[in-house]
Amino acid sequence: MSVLLRTSGLRKRFGELRAVDNVSLELHEGILTAIIGPNGAGKTTLINLLSGALTPDEGRIEFLGEEITHLPAHLRVRRGLVRSFQIMNIFPRLSVEENVLVPVLMRLRRDRHVWGPVSRCSDALAEVERVLQAVGLWEMRNHPAGALSHGDKRRLELGIAIASRPVLCLLDEPCSGTNPVERRGVLALVQKLAREGQTTFVIVEHDMDVVFSLAQRIVVMSRGQILADGTPSEIRDNADVRAIYLGEVQDS
Ligand SMILES: Nc1ncnc2c1ncn2[C@@H]1O[C@H](COP(=O)(O)OP(=O)(O)O)[C@@H](O)[C@H]1O
Ligand SMILES: [Mg+2]
Repeated sequence: MSVLLRTSGLRKRFGELRAVDNVSLELHEGILTAIIGPNGAGKTTLINLLSGALTPDEGRIEFLGEEITHLPAHLRVRRGLVRSFQIMNIFPRLSVEENVLVPVLMRLRRDRHVWGPVSRCSDALAEVERVLQAVGLWEMRNHPAGALSHGDKRRLELGIAIASRPVLCLLDEPCSGTNPVERRGVLALVQKLAREGQTTFVIVEHDMDVVFSLAQRIVVMSRGQILADGTPSEIRDNADVRAIYLGEVQDS
């Protein structure tokens, strides 16, 4: 099982607050990993550090065997490390197709065509179709992204994330704001994409039923640290985890 990403001793403070506190973690190829934990546990901050949106105060991040601790986010994307956001991150006035075309063109290193006539790039269009078919939005390709339902916007975000054919894709609450039906659809989609095997996914998600049915590995964060790390059944039986979620032990 090869290690795609490795952190050691990662720390990020906001003033006195230790948002991420000495996190050492390995993410393995082909293993759908969920990161869970109470609000404020540091999940988004960790994703921000991994994706390059934030710089750690201490520690090191390696991706595919090379140090990327201080590499800017866009260069991480180029190496195959992408993320989606807890808050929606699409271009609402562009069509569904155009939203996916932008990262496809970037991958094809044809950046000069990004704003040119779309018909010039048949490779890119074939790739856009592949992505939109994969996320179930091909029929909606000409709609403005802003007009989609919330669930379909989330599908589009997934499409944007996978359009660059990443090695590792970090999804921060990809279902936030969706209703239960949409949520199941989006999560089934993540599972399908994960099984296709081109990309390894890490998902931050707070719905426990979903996490336990979806993930092959669960990392539990609490107060910036990793409290537990294991298979769903190991995590289900972990007394510390139950304590946080059931509120049996109050924070000291
Ligand atoms: N930019 C920031 N400035 C100050 N505090 C922040 C910032 N981002 C996050 N925090 C704080 O860091 C802690 C961890 O936040 P976050 O990583 O968003 O948690 P989670 O995603 O697990 O809910 C929280 O207490 C939050 O208020
Ligand atoms: Mg968060």
